[in-house]
Amino acid sequence: MERVNRILSDEKYRIYLLKNKGPEEYRIFCTHDLEHMLAVARLTYLLLLEEDCKFMTQELAYAAGLLHDIGRWKEYQDGTDHAGYSAVLAATILERAGFETAERDLIVKAIAQHRNHHDQEEHRSPLSKALRKADGMARLCFSCAALKECRRLDKRPHTAGLIY
Ligand SMILES: [Fe+2]
Ligand SMILES: [Fe+2]
Repeated sequence: MERVNRILSDEKYRIYLLKNKGPEEYRIFCTHDLEHMLAVARLTYLLLLEEDCKFMTQELAYAAGLLHDIGRWKEYQDGTDHAGYSAVLAATILERAGFETAERDLIVKAIAQHRNHHDQEEHRSPLSKALRKADGMARLCFSCAALKECRRLDKRPHTAGLIY
């Protein structure tokens, strides 16, 4: 997990996490902090293990999870879609961390697709599918005080109380 640790200590990665934190200080809905990134990373890896996806390494799953929302701050600033923007920011961090071109392409694509709907499932890699599913599962909607006001309520099948 050496390359994943390089992501965590990457200066730009730390800056992007801080940039997410500012506008979310008083946010009653989901936040996009390191805790969320790590939860998504762990769930992504678990889902890939369940699928018996042996060619997928733990490092790829963790890299995708840790980076998937690093551009959320940009969406607060000017409405830019954070999935695509996070993918752009992730590419250079992945390169610095030592991920090969093919690995970077896979991770960046999964990040760019993490908000896409289920009707596009057939065009996804196993990593992309796992990341999207993990992102939803990482949210403990059933215990959220802002659940009734959340516009994502109908998109989250686990709100009834399922936990992973
Ligand atoms: Fe996201
Ligand atoms: Fe997320």
